[in-house]
Amino acid sequence: MTATATAIRVEGLEKSYDELAVLRGVDLHVEQGSIVALLGSNGAGKTTLVRILSTLLRADAGTASVQGYDVAAQAADVRESISLTGQFAAVDEILTGRENLMLVARLRHLPDAGRVADDLLARFDLVEAGARKVATYSGGMRRRLDIAMSLIGEPPVVFLDEPTTGLDPQARTEVWASVKELAARGTTVLLTTQYLEEAERLADRIAILHEGRIIADGTLADLKQLFPPAHVEYVEKQPTLEEIFLAIIGAEQKS
Ligand SMILES: Nc1ncnc2c1ncn2[C@@H]1O[C@H](COP(=O)(O)OP(=O)(O)OP(=O)(O)O)[C@@H](O)[C@H]1O
Ligand SMILES: [Mg+2]
Repeated sequence: MTATATAIRVEGLEKSYDELAVLRGVDLHVEQGSIVALLGSNGAGKTTLVRILSTLLRADAGTASVQGYDVAAQAADVRESISLTGQFAAVDEILTGRENLMLVARLRHLPDAGRVADDLLARFDLVEAGARKVATYSGGMRRRLDIAMSLIGEPPVVFLDEPTTGLDPQARTEVWASVKELAARGTTVLLTTQYLEEAERLADRIAILHEGRIIADGTLADLKQLFPPAHVEYVEKQPTLEEIFLAIIGAEQKS
C-alpha cells in the first residue's frame, strides 16, 4: 500500500495493437473512495485501459498501480484488490439470483455463502427476485446482480466498463444508486461511460481520454471552466457536459 490515498495511479501508459497506437502516454490518479468517470469516443481506448488496470492486458510502456500494487509485477495482488464488470452481464440464467451469488461466494471460499448472498440481495434491492431464475430478470436487475456478484469478497477497487449501456432510464437510475452506495462505503470506482449524464450525476471527477491521452481531468466544475466562451446568446446558460466534452475533444459543434 502507498502512504497516499491514491487507489489507482497511471503514469505514461502506452499500448498499441500492431500499427494502431491506442494509448500514447496516459496519466491518471484516482483517489481512494472516489468515483471517476472515464469518457471517450468509441475506440478511444477506455476498455483497453481498464483491461490493463485489471491485469488482463499488458501495457507496452509506462506504469500503473492499483492499491499500491504494480499491475505488471504484482498482478496477483492487483487481482485480489479489484473486481471488473464488463458490458455483458456474466450471470447464469438457469440459476436464481441468490444461487448466482452463493456460487461466487463459495468459489471465493467465503464462510456462510447464504448470508453473503442475502446481504447483497438486500443491498441491491433484489430480495423479492432472489428466488427467481435470472432468465426472468429485466436488464436492470441483471446488471444489478452482476455488480453485486463482483462485490463478493469486498474488493476495494471496482472497475465498471459501461455499466448502464442498453439499460432504460429507470434501470440506469437504479444502477447509479448502487454505484453511489458503493463509493459511500469507501470503495473506489472507475467507470467508463458513453452517457455524459451518467458522468455528471455520478462522478466526483471526470477524465476525458482522447487521441491516446487524458486531455482533461477534473470535477464537473473544473471542466465547466475549460469551456470556451460561447456566443452572447448562451451567456446565461450553463454548458452541459456534452457541450464541454465536444468542445474539449474539438468536435464540430452542431448549431
Ligand atoms: N485485441 C485487439 N486487437 C486489435 N485492435 C484492438 C484490440 N482491442 C481493441 N482494439 C482497437 O483499439 C481501439 C480502442 O479500443 P477500446 O475497446 O479500448 O475502445 P473503447 O474506448 O473502449 O471503445 P468503445 O466506446 O467502443 O467501447 C479501437 O480502435 C479498437 O478497434
Ligand atoms: Mg469499450
